[in-house]
Amino acid sequence: MGARVVTAQKDTIGEAATILKRGGLVAFPTETVYGLGADALNGRAVARIFEAKGRPEFNPVIVHVVDADAAAALVEMSDGAKALAAHFWPGPLTFILPRRKNCPVSELCSAGLPTLAVRAPDHPVAQALLKAAGVPVAAPSANASGSLSPTTPTHVAESLGYKVDLILAGGACAVGLESTVLDLSGDVPAVVRPGAISAEDITTVLGREVVYDAGNPDKPKSPGQLLRHYAPRAKLRLNAVDLEPGEALLAFGSDKFMGIRGGGAAKDLADEKRRNLSETGDLAEAAANLFRMLHELDRNNERIAVMSIPDNGLGIAINDRIKKAAAGIGGGKGAP
Ligand code: TXA
Ligand code: MG
Repeated sequence: MGARVVTAQKDTIGEAATILKRGGLVAFPTETVYGLGADALNGRAVARIFEAKGRPEFNPVIVHVVDADAAAALVEMSDGAKALAAHFWPGPLTFILPRRKNCPVSELCSAGLPTLAVRAPDHPVAQALLKAAGVPVAAPSANASGSLSPTTPTHVAESLGYKVDLILAGGACAVGLESTVLDLSGDVPAVVRPGAISAEDITTVLGREVVYDAGNPDKPKSPGQLLRHYAPRAKLRLNAVDLEPGEALLAFGSDKFMGIRGGGAAKDLADEKRRNLSETGDLAEAAANLFRMLHELDRNNERIAVMSIPDNGLGIAINDRIKKAAAGIGGGKGAP
């Protein structure tokens, strides 16, 4: 079955907004490339993005907003970010900034990191969709993982097909290249992905030096300039079939029959020692809960036992992250 492609106009944009609010996926044009959008507040919807793209792992995704005020509800907008937004937004520039306390965006968008990427796109269809949906929209480029970024609705349809609920066709993208990604969360502003807006353009507005750091994963120059992976403080034990005394439990599926060595049952553990990624064994629900639950357990526990998760579909990405977390990879540098 092929994709449903419709011309972007008032009624179809309204329908697309309804699909987003119901947890569906909509591909839409921006001035850079077509985005594969989901309601950023809905973790299960965001999980579907990774499922549709067939990404082997969870990378953080850009959250699209109408303007700087909408961004300020999600991230800590520094004075520099405000100045840059006033100058370049809407436009092909993305900021990585610290998430606000109680930021309502799914932690899956941040892949567990304390930061979030935000951008106000400069395209009438993207703007109309964001306004109609009334929610921030998570959207990576609308292509299957490993293939080229799509700049026409046909590219999207060929790459994703029926995996996207609706494709809003709005012609070819003017820029045709993904947005510049500027990391403003560290000491020195760093362009971590080059795009139409250059480091020099940014320096001019910011009045301070901006470095380029596309990142060499083998030779990290300085910590903080490459994509970090989330890693918990606690020690993780994988494929647990029972608990050792003192361990907290990150369950998948029923934990009814899980025992504690030496006596007791997992189901009687205190709330701060027990989380279930998905009682029904739903991988999209588990993906949506993964980083939040790891954070919650990590806050109060030294050791976390993790039940096994099937290694197919989204389970591959979940297991990839859990293995990295268990190996203590992260809090440092990693390849994006
Ligand atoms: O032009 C664009 O930016 C397109 C259109 C649809 O807006 N979107 C796009 O999104 O290219 P995506 O998710 O494919 O690219 C996001 C880039 C990735 O390189 C990702 O690693 C980086 O931004 N990124 C996102 N959040 C990050 C974070 N919290 N920390 C570090 N890097 C982050
Ligand atoms: Mg991409």
